[in-house]
Amino acid sequence: MEDQVEEVKRKTDIVGIVGQYVALKKMGRHHKGLCPFHGEKTPSFTVNEEMGLYKCFGCGAGGDVLNFLMEIEGIDFRDALERLAEKAGVKLVAKRFEGGDQKQKLLEIMDIAARYYHWQLTEGKGGEAALKYLLDRGINQKLIKTFNIGFALPGWDHLTNYLTKKKSYQEELLEKAGLINKKNAGQGYFDKFRGRIMFPLLDAGGKVVGFSGRILPSLEKENEPKYLNSPETELYHKGRMLFGFYQAKQTIREKKRAVLVEGQMDLVSSYGAGVSESVAIGGTALTEDQITMISRLAKTIYLAFDADDAGILAIKRAVEMAEKREMDVKVVQIEGGKDPDEVARKNPALWKEMVEKAVDVYEFVMTHAMKKYDKGNVQGIKKITEEVVPFLAKIENSVVRELWMRKFAERLGVEVGLVRSEVERMKSGKTGITKPEPVKKIEEGVENKVEKLTKRLLGGLLLQPILRKQIKPWFEKTTLIGASGKALKLVMSQTEESPANLIEAAPSELKEVLQEAYMAEGSSENTTDKDIQELAIQLVREVIREEKKVLMEEMETARKEGREEDEDRLFAKVNELNREESRIVTFLG
Ligand code: UTP
Ligand code: MN
Repeated sequence: MEDQVEEVKRKTDIVGIVGQYVALKKMGRHHKGLCPFHGEKTPSFTVNEEMGLYKCFGCGAGGDVLNFLMEIEGIDFRDALERLAEKAGVKLVAKRFEGGDQKQKLLEIMDIAARYYHWQLTEGKGGEAALKYLLDRGINQKLIKTFNIGFALPGWDHLTNYLTKKKSYQEELLEKAGLINKKNAGQGYFDKFRGRIMFPLLDAGGKVVGFSGRILPSLEKENEPKYLNSPETELYHKGRMLFGFYQAKQTIREKKRAVLVEGQMDLVSSYGAGVSESVAIGGTALTEDQITMISRLAKTIYLAFDADDAGILAIKRAVEMAEKREMDVKVVQIEGGKDPDEVARKNPALWKEMVEKAVDVYEFVMTHAMKKYDKGNVQGIKKITEEVVPFLAKIENSVVRELWMRKFAERLGVEVGLVRSEVERMKSGKTGITKPEPVKKIEEGVENKVEKLTKRLLGGLLLQPILRKQIKPWFEKTTLIGASGKALKLVMSQTEESPANLIEAAPSELKEVLQEAYMAEGSSENTTDKDIQELAIQLVREVIREEKKVLMEEMETARKEGREEDEDRLFAKVNELNREESRIVTFLG
């Protein structure tokens, strides 16, 4: 297994893979681009082909090509490995982890089911009415294909028969896939989805993991829901599903925004109108997982929900989650139709324009509340405040919060101090609203000067083996500590090894610091020998200074306590260090 992972990595071109997501430019030994994991304007995202590593010096993300794929696609190690293995032409012999075989089988079944439904809709006789319904709704052949839409025939056992008789799958497995149900009375199973337009639900890699089925209106029955979704299965978790994500992710990444709609039909129509960065939550409450999926690719979320009470609640949830991730939220104001589907279908250009004209969420909340209540009387002002303040209290950035509080006070015609105290009251939790816990901030890491210099020198010496031998004696009388210090000692003792071999052979606890130093080392080739030598001298002096500081303190204590011998001994050491310092400085001349 271990060997196969290595083989896959070796046969994979990391620049090619990362390049599918990030525009990369060759700069010296590295490729550089804008980090896809956090918003930035100057590229600090570095990919190195030779080492097969990436590293962002802005947000700290980093690793090998498998880590990259896992992170950007939101998939697990095994999935990432399989994808790359397929591309690299490596046949993975090792078995999947426990239950893995079954997962594979379930995926196979879901894929076949999706094809079956799709065939019924597009080619089968039984799907004609459904096809007509879709076409009449403005969902054309191209969209049907893009979303692999299908139709589940009315009747109890079409799919069951097809999958058990023609394809020889066990009924138990089909039940585990959520496609068929056990009969309540008697024996056997029946199709879960009947007489429904079928929307396959795909994971981030494009594999079918579930379905959502809309009843064909002519077959509507009481007690049957309009939309029926797959149950939670080994493959499908509704909280982690965004309908259309697979089709949208490329555009989301490019436009750095995602348009969130509610339903499947909204999504297909919005996509059809050219807003291909749309995703649908599909009738569930928005979850942290869904926001996380988006936040990996975009920094702004456009909410295109109904502005009814449920919609406002959904907007509130979204804002809370987005603020924690320092994302912006905008609200698309839907007019001229009851949902995005209606608007986009009637007038695609208008829908696009509406998306462009989305307003900042705080603007929206204010306007919405002021339309609903009358600011001319006390009761109205109270209502408006109650609706708006919880939103303002969630703004993490205090400058931004202050800005909106002022705007709100002005619109409401009250002193800003009043708004401020209401917001403070809410933030302090007096009203029972919980303050969102801040998402883990990137550790700044108070690296001291020695640490920084050590790492830089480490990078320089990794690349310039010739200098290692020359510089090594400079550090004879000093102690290098920590992982970076140990790594530096190691590098100086290897007079010929290439960076790749050196890192490969290094003890595991030093690998990370070595890799990081290598990746951080200037992208331009023009670090001169002299630069590196100067860096080394700077480091020696800094280390000596630190050591002297400690010795001086000890000396002072010894003096106070009257330990003369100790004092003399320490003094001699300090002197020695002084001499050492001048000895090294003269090297450079
Ligand atoms: P709507 O009732 O607004 O449906 O439910 P819709 O999206 O406008 O669909 P059409 O235009 O009538 O075909 C909004 C969303 O809520 C979920 C679905 O995802 C739906 O798109 N929903 C709705 C369910 O999951 N189950 C239901 O029974 C109804
Ligand atoms: Mn609708």
